Amino acid sequence: MLLPFLLLLTLAVARHPSEDSKDVLRYINPLIGSTNGGNVFAGASRPYSLAKAVADVNGQNTAGFATDGSNVTGFSLLHDSGTGGNPSLGNFPLFPQVCPGGELDRCVFPKNKRGVRYANNNNNNNDSVVARPGFFAVELEGGIRAEMAVSRRAGVFRFTFPDDEEEEEEGSPLILLDLTDLWDSRQNASMVIDEENARITARGTFLPSFGAGSYRSYVCVDFFGGGVRDSGVWVNDRAGHSEKEEFFVTRGFNLFYVQAGGWMRFRRADSSEPLVVSARVGVSYISSQRACENAEREIPDPVGGFEALREDAEQEWRGKMSAVSVTAGDGVGEGLLRSFWSGIYRTMLDPQDLTGENPLWESEEPYFDSFYCIWDSFRVQHPLLTIIDPRAQARMVRSLLDTYKHEGWLPDCRMSLCKGWTQGGSNADVLLADAFVKNLTGIDWPLAYEAMVNDAENEPLEWSFEGRGGLQSWKRLGYIPYLDFDYLGFGTNSRSISRTVEYAYNDFCVATLGRALGRDEEEYQKYLGRAGNWRNLFREDQTSFVNGTDTGFVGFFQPRYLNGTWGYQDPIACSALAGSWCSLTDNPSETFESSVWEYQFYVPHDMKSLITTLGGDDAFIARLDFFHESGLADLGNEPVFLTVFQYHYAGRPGLSAARAHSYIPSRFNDTTAGLPGNDDSGAMGAFAVFAMLGLFPVPGQNVYLIMPPFFAEVSITHPETGQTATIRNVNFDAAYASMYIQEARLDGEVYTRSWIGHEFFTGGGLLELVLGEEEGDWGTAEEDRPPSLV
Ligand SMILES: *[C@@H]1O[C@H](CO)[C@@H](O)[C@H](O)[C@H]1NC(C)=O
Ligand SMILES: *[C@@H]1O[C@H](CO)[C@@H](O)[C@H](O)[C@H]1NC(C)=O
Ligand SMILES: *[C@@H]1O[C@H](CO)[C@@H](O)[C@H](O)[C@H]1NC(C)=O
Ligand SMILES: *[C@@H]1O[C@H](CO)[C@@H](O)[C@H](O)[C@H]1NC(C)=O
Ligand SMILES: *[C@@H]1O[C@H](CO)[C@@H](O)[C@H](O)[C@H]1NC(C)=O
Ligand SMILES: *[C@@H]1O[C@H](CO)[C@@H](O)[C@H](O)[C@H]1NC(C)=O
Ligand SMILES: *[C@@H]1O[C@H](CO)[C@@H](O)[C@H](O)[C@H]1NC(C)=O
Repeated sequence: MLLPFLLLLTLAVARHPSEDSKDVLRYINPLIGSTNGGNVFAGASRPYSLAKAVADVNGQNTAGFATDGSNVTGFSLLHDSGTGGNPSLGNFPLFPQVCPGGELDRCVFPKNKRGVRYANNNNNNNDSVVARPGFFAVELEGGIRAEMAVSRRAGVFRFTFPDDEEEEEEGSPLILLDLTDLWDSRQNASMVIDEENARITARGTFLPSFGAGSYRSYVCVDFFGGGVRDSGVWVNDRAGHSEKEEFFVTRGFNLFYVQAGGWMRFRRADSSEPLVVSARVGVSYISSQRACENAEREIPDPVGGFEALREDAEQEWRGKMSAVSVTAGDGVGEGLLRSFWSGIYRTMLDPQDLTGENPLWESEEPYFDSFYCIWDSFRVQHPLLTIIDPRAQARMVRSLLDTYKHEGWLPDCRMSLCKGWTQGGSNADVLLADAFVKNLTGIDWPLAYEAMVNDAENEPLEWSFEGRGGLQSWKRLGYIPYLDFDYLGFGTNSRSISRTVEYAYNDFCVATLGRALGRDEEEYQKYLGRAGNWRNLFREDQTSFVNGTDTGFVGFFQPRYLNGTWGYQDPIACSALAGSWCSLTDNPSETFESSVWEYQFYVPHDMKSLITTLGGDDAFIARLDFFHESGLADLGNEPVFLTVFQYHYAGRPGLSAARAHSYIPSRFNDTTAGLPGNDDSGAMGAFAVFAMLGLFPVPGQNVYLIMPPFFAEVSITHPETGQTATIRNVNFDAAYASMYIQEARLDGEVYTRSWIGHEFFTGGGLLELVLGEEEGDWGTAEEDRPPSLV
């Protein structure tokens, strides 16, 4: 009797694992960052999958859906997560409706007219939206319910039309397919409707959302449930039947974007019952046939197998989370746990594994897309994957190198098979150096070095989307000049300060790998020399005023002309304090998306020299404090990340911990508006995760800065070596009164350094941190500070 009972219980737990209190999936809320500019993808996804199903809205729809109260215009399967700028992907949306009175013309076809509210969307915390790892559901006003689950390259949208006793035969439910994407970038598209087999296939040419060129996308939709009543095409406001075998649509003229697509209507067996129509959607970048094959292979039973598909996705997510385990500690709120686990989850949405779906070249190597953008992701997203999913990270690195091999350059940004715009340096160099110092396996290091040297030495014609610009000046003068004269290649001739500090760090990364690969000393010294180029833009006597008051800080990076004469950029320009924003196209300046104040701290390889340059430890700390407390720090963008923890370099690791607590949870929390800026493929999430973990990475170096975790204890088991690294707080209290490390022990031995290397993760160990309410001596000594060049 006992045995079957136990078995049943196990089954029950397996069937509803999200109700198990030990299951970390219950802490994952995909809606965190779904408004307030977080732009996260909130729908159903697998780790790194191409298929990402969600409802698309007409508000903040960069990633399809947002909880900003805007209306649903469709349901589609291709998305990115956390990006800024133009809405990304959202190709070939489906939209369900019932035509009033059974008249086709009374259905609404164009996207700009058909938007409908979802139920209860005035209250973000109480509406019909259900968002879980691998599952998304919403009910539209009027009662049509949509639920979705995905495999890797296909998904199922299950639409339930409410019963309608009154309904005439002609009023049967309709689902349209729109030959467009989220930002209406379609250049042309074509579609074939196979009514007999309830199938629509389509292909189209679209534009990448932050890049050059165009790409083709393919879809295959099969409908199940409800017999097909009739089908046809629609163009702008009108729909009808069509005699043509293949329907082709162009772009239209200027503002008159042609809105067009296909539709199918379905029969109800019984009008007193709700009608369920499941749309199985396969996607591909190769062909429509491939899109159909992807769907047939991955989801053979879209109707009966829906729950299994959902559970399989949950199981996959659970597996990805299993490297990490947390003992929260008495009194720690669930909000922190939700931020933590959801942050990890969001780092595994993009880049997307498109291996086998790359039409551009033949290769045995993996192909990942949606590196969107490396300028954002090299700092913390990729370093987090390196710890918890090193296999995936190694495959991403191989994909970058294969892209270099076939396209001639490492990407800085890449989406939809196209080259994306470069924001600063050639930061794939940092990503590669980071992978090297952390011993990722299976990577062709000589090829990596060749690709990095290519960035450092050769200027491409279009450095707006690959390599670096201004290399003649860089080599001759040691900085990127303000208003550079450059006839070798072309890009937006701005950002001379931020490019200088980023190129300097990129060259440090070239030096790191070159030395390890045994390149000659002269070559090593050359790149090390260039790594010091940040000094050439430091203007010793530059002051900074806020509101007409001198801040008292002297010495800042400033723009410099070719002839060596200083130019001028107000050190607070491009910050919220100056009320200005500087991007590639919006008010382009000598710093990108941040002020001189913020870039002043970006010398990650030589903090010791920087601190000396800025007047020593106390002056440096006063400057960091002013930066964080005056409104100059822009928490919503990635360049700020390291500044939160740079107190370590001045021998005050306790201040890094205090600073982290001042931002979490006040700026990073578990609400739908809980991210301070674009999540950028999980960068914001990874920042919060590392801060709460108590180890913050300095990308490109084998260095993690140590702080007390926000939890009593955190463990990470390396997925390849199987070794477990545990960080344990001694004297932990959930109010964080004791947030200062007094003493540390590694495997029982006294540990005085304020940083640790990646060997901790690969080899495992126990790091115990004894906490107290006052800053102690731990980590203050010169020799215990994190490494610097000098
Ligand atoms: C959303 O739809 C409602 C009707 O359902 C309409 O009143 C409202 O203006 C729409 N809002 C937007 C942003 O489209
Ligand atoms: C949620 O909405 C329903 C229906 O509008 C209402 O009955 C219920 O009280 C609401 N619950 C909360 C917690 O606001
Ligand atoms: C579709 O548009 C693309 C990009 O503009 C173009 O290269 C292609 O020739 C077009 N296809 C057709 C059939 O017109
Ligand atoms: C250097 O160039 C700048 C910009 O053209 C000019 O204003 C400045 O006078 C020049 N300085 C010298 C010393 O020629
Ligand atoms: C500058 O002035 C504004 C408006 O008076 C004020 O809110 C802000 O705190 C001031 N900032 C500093 C750093 O003094
Ligand atoms: C949560 O974070 C957001 C974004 O930074 C912030 O605006 C909000 O005030 C925070 N909420 C709480 C309760 O701290
Ligand atoms: C990388 O491998 C080398 C050689 O086996 C070893 O000495 C080093 O400790 C490893 N580094 C890490 C971060 O695991």
